[in-house]
Amino acid sequence: MCWAIRLCCLVALVRVLGVVASTNNIDDYVGLRALMDGWDNFPPNWDGADPCGSGWEGISCNNGGRVDSITLASINISGQLASDIDKLSDLKILDLSYNTGITGELPSSIGNLKNLTSLIVVGCGFSGQIPPSIGSLQKLVYLSLNLNNFIGEIPASIGNLSNLFWLDIADNKLTGSIPVSKGSTPGLDMLVSAKHFHFGGNQLSGQIPPQLFSSKLPLKHLLLENNRLTGSIPSSLGLVQTLEVIRLDKNLLSGAVPDNLNNLSNIQELYLANNKLTGPLPNLTAMHSLNYVDLSNNTFEETDVPPWFLSLQSLTSLIMENTHIKGELPVSLFSLAQLQTVVLRKNHINGTLNIGSNLNDQLKLIDLQNNFIDAFSPRAGYTAEIILVGNPICNEGITEEYCTVSQNRSDDTYELPNKDCPADLKCSNGEILSPTCKCAYPYSGSLRFRAPSFSDYGSTSTYESLEAALIESFKLHEQPVDSVSILVNPMKNAVGYLVLGLHIFPSDQPYFTRTGIVEIGFMLSNQTFKPPHEFGPFFFKGDVYQYFPDLIGDKHKSSLSKEVIIGAAVGACLLLLLLVVAGVYAFRQKKIAKTASKRSDPFGSWDPNSDSGGVPQLKGGRSFTFEEIKKCTNNFSTTNEIGSGGYGKVYRGTLVNGQLVAIKRAQQGSTQGAMEFKTEIELLSRVHHKNVVGLVGFCFDKGEQMLIYEYVTNGTLKDSLTGKTGIRLDWSRRLRIALGAGRGVHYLHEQANPPIIHRDIKSNNILLDERLNAKVADFGLSKSKPMSEQDKSHLTTQVKGTMGYLDPEYYMTQQLTEKSDVYSFGVVMLELLTSRTPIMKGKYVVREVKEALDKSKNLYNLEPVLDPIVASNVAPGSVERFVDVALRCVQESGVNRPNMSEVVKEIENIMDIAGLNPSNESASTSDNYEGISKGSKDPYANESLFSYSGDYSPAKSESK
Ligand SMILES: *[C@@H]1O[C@H](CO)[C@@H](O)[C@H](O)[C@H]1NC(C)=O
Ligand SMILES: *[C@@H]1O[C@H](CO)[C@@H](O)[C@H](O)[C@H]1NC(C)=O
Repeated sequence: MCWAIRLCCLVALVRVLGVVASTNNIDDYVGLRALMDGWDNFPPNWDGADPCGSGWEGISCNNGGRVDSITLASINISGQLASDIDKLSDLKILDLSYNTGITGELPSSIGNLKNLTSLIVVGCGFSGQIPPSIGSLQKLVYLSLNLNNFIGEIPASIGNLSNLFWLDIADNKLTGSIPVSKGSTPGLDMLVSAKHFHFGGNQLSGQIPPQLFSSKLPLKHLLLENNRLTGSIPSSLGLVQTLEVIRLDKNLLSGAVPDNLNNLSNIQELYLANNKLTGPLPNLTAMHSLNYVDLSNNTFEETDVPPWFLSLQSLTSLIMENTHIKGELPVSLFSLAQLQTVVLRKNHINGTLNIGSNLNDQLKLIDLQNNFIDAFSPRAGYTAEIILVGNPICNEGITEEYCTVSQNRSDDTYELPNKDCPADLKCSNGEILSPTCKCAYPYSGSLRFRAPSFSDYGSTSTYESLEAALIESFKLHEQPVDSVSILVNPMKNAVGYLVLGLHIFPSDQPYFTRTGIVEIGFMLSNQTFKPPHEFGPFFFKGDVYQYFPDLIGDKHKSSLSKEVIIGAAVGACLLLLLLVVAGVYAFRQKKIAKTASKRSDPFGSWDPNSDSGGVPQLKGGRSFTFEEIKKCTNNFSTTNEIGSGGYGKVYRGTLVNGQLVAIKRAQQGSTQGAMEFKTEIELLSRVHHKNVVGLVGFCFDKGEQMLIYEYVTNGTLKDSLTGKTGIRLDWSRRLRIALGAGRGVHYLHEQANPPIIHRDIKSNNILLDERLNAKVADFGLSKSKPMSEQDKSHLTTQVKGTMGYLDPEYYMTQQLTEKSDVYSFGVVMLELLTSRTPIMKGKYVVREVKEALDKSKNLYNLEPVLDPIVASNVAPGSVERFVDVALRCVQESGVNRPNMSEVVKEIENIMDIAGLNPSNESASTSDNYEGISKGSKDPYANESLFSYSGDYSPAKSESK
């Protein structure tokens, strides 16, 4: 009975809401409502009653009036995916890519969407296991789960997806082995239609199962790089004639490379580097199509230069570092027509280097560091960079160019040139000038090429062809795109992906609509766009688009109620029904009204002139009026200016009560939304720790946004390390500073509520007070901000941080964890040891220390790189243990790094050995250190203090 009434009411409700008009199925409506309930920020026009008829953005329907596609890339959805999604039983395409706010598990009910052909959730925040129910999606052809936080094993049931052509599960945290079928248990060897296995960047272990490969498999791309696979490379791999790209690098593979790999004549890119392969160097003579080969860092048998070096006519890149090659290099190597890069570092190449006279223009780099070459006669007119550092020919005193490593070859960032735009054309409001000289808000993101076949990253024409291909593809699919620009940073990331920033500019209007964004996002997430062949396999990581007209100011017209038309309803249920409708409606009205008012004025009724709290909820900070701040900084006089950064300027001020403060004033264009600012100060005001710079208050008045911090007298750690402050940092002081800073970061990670990831730990952000207590500064301010014009020259990934301190894993995956701070902290520890900036003259301190390290020697053989003050320290063992911790912090993989509490604990132990009392961490009283306040130099007169450095992108190197 009850059931009957419920059904009756539902049917009536549907009818009242007008759903019946063109959506035939109540389930679709229920499913979509469930999605909306689980999410914030679904498209504002998901309103009214008819997803199909009234054009809900991101939704399309089939002829039967059923929802068959949901594509919602890059529109900032957050929340969880509702399990009632399975009500949308006609759904064929689901694309939720690039919404990092979608978290939680992929619901198991997804397995009920039996019509699904494409399931794409690239770059979201999904966690938990991949539900085995995915294996019942019999029609699935395209599955992209890459760049999430999935854990656990690859479900064996995926083996049931016999139509699957694309399987991308890369860049997650998957563990266990690659499943293959056994008895009635399915496995990936059953994926007979698969052309793409992209499994890189996980923690997969066990052997690469021989069963996975057969001569019938149409596989083109096998990407297993950066896992923990062991055992030998199965010889069955040599049966897969269709293979074009093999990446097995960065694993723990051992044994000899099977001979029959040589049969794979379609291979273009072969990466076997950084394994433990043994046996003879593979014979690649028959890989006629090979462009890019990297066999570095394996333990192959010593061998002469193999003949295939000279016979592979398509070779662009020959990367064979540390592969035990001996003898002289034949001159004919350098006349290979396509060759761009030769890296043969750390081999036993000897004799004379003869590059002949046939060098082609494309040959850009010949890197033969650390070999035994004793003669070289350079020819006039060659353009390639030749590096012979570490060869006998570069013995001391030789200053030839080829005996130095040039510093800036890898960190140039540039953008393909605009057409000639009038010089006075300047964009405002965060708009960016397009290549066709229009100001607009582009959709940005990065294209990540996992195995490009070229290595001359400086060639503009290569990128022009990519740009042209993009435009053509957008035009072909009738996307509202005016133009695109590519931001080139010719550096590869830690696993050798080539990362290119991309701006896509809108046509017609200066911004995209949601429909425009989700369609473009889908074109890139589902590989409709095919880049020119030489770029190889790729994926796109879109940024959230923040410039929809309703977000950038145009009054957003809510289409809330117009479709709610009370029609003729049915008999007995009418009254109840009306109540339900009224209730739902009122609730939603209220919710929408609340959200809207929150958006426009978060400070609401709050009176900025009172200290009474109210909104915002401050714990400890107070608000200041503009007048107050103006007064205490002497009208923002330049003499009070103590720093500046991308965000604005920093002033020193004295409050009425005599307290010294540092005031960060956001400049025009750098201010955040009021809502964000409020969130920020609420967050910051909750942070109280003696090793963290405290927030005194804020000013949100007269359109200004300022943060007021306690003033820390002795400036930055960097200033002291570089000798600017004259404070002598002996070993015990360094240990105490490390301990204090470590405790500060530990507090942010584990005790602050909510926890804070700093994102920009560096010696510039560690301040020293009058007793040399370390205080961590400038946290919490690195949220993604709307892109300003300054960002134009950088990669437009959302990665924040400072070059030299930036966690390579974070850079690669864009997934931020506490371990990224741990990496940066490790770099600071190395700075404390060496007193060197992390990147100096093209040398990276992490690499320098790792390369010099020899644990069998005194001070680990690091004396040449250590600061003499540290090297002369007497407490035996303490420097070594400090080095051990620092190097654990800078492990490439975050999971191998300690967390901050372990770091703090270990520094305490080290202080114990050194006879220092860790509970008394302040270094000394101010009267027993030298050189305090030399002359009138203000310790704050450092432009990067309080630098708001959140805007730095990796492309912006300090060594610029
Ligand atoms: C390498 O392979 C080619 C053809 O595949 C063969 O002719 C040649 O003898 C092999 N070289 C060696 C050293 O085995
Ligand atoms: C190069 O090294 C090989 C041994 O690896 C040796 O036989 C040869 O004589 C050396 N050549 C020169 C020019 O030193």
